[in-house]
Amino acid sequence: MSRLDSFIRRLMAQRTCLNHAAQEISAVPGVVFELGLGNGRTYDHLRDVLADREIFVFDRQVAAHPDCIPDDDHMIVGDFSDTLPSAVKRFEGRCALVHADIGTGVAERNARMALYLGSILGPALAPGGLILSDQEMAIPGFTAGLLPTDVPSGRYYLLCNEAKGS
Ligand SMILES: C[S@@+](CC[C@H](N)C(=O)[O-])C[C@H]1O[C@@H](n2cnc3c(N)ncnc32)[C@H](O)[C@@H]1O
Repeated sequence: MSRLDSFIRRLMAQRTCLNHAAQEISAVPGVVFELGLGNGRTYDHLRDVLADREIFVFDRQVAAHPDCIPDDDHMIVGDFSDTLPSAVKRFEGRCALVHADIGTGVAERNARMALYLGSILGPALAPGGLILSDQEMAIPGFTAGLLPTDVPSGRYYLLCNEAKGS
């Protein structure tokens, strides 16, 4: 497989996962967190498939395509370790979906970030809420969800908050 083939497959799998998660949260009210604006591709897709949701985007910098930059109220700039603690408090139990696309080429850094995100994100999630991530995470009270069969194993990970609503 050429590098072009592999790149295309990676992005197709990402889109498949985003579409799947968007459908899975159709009965879960709440906002969406997008961790990692990057150049805005997945943010742009999420706002397309989840047009009726408020999406809060987190990144240490804003370097996206100009058409894909959230307004100031929805773009939260800073390191995740500085911005997420207050966002998790603010949206406690009211987040229907977190999408985290935060991988770098450095496996150790990715593992550290996955540990950190797993330690902090849980309380933000609504009952039935989902975390879709390019990194594997574990959170007590959350179970691994199934992704569509055409997504290669280890490409993306889904976690579901098993807490029941009141
Ligand atoms: C792979 S890119 C995201 C790509 C994006 N989903 C897209 O489709 O264009 C990862 C992003 O996460 C951000 N990021 C990684 N670690 C971070 C951290 N600790 N705090 C804030 N942002 C971080 C980087 O600045 C980068 O923009």
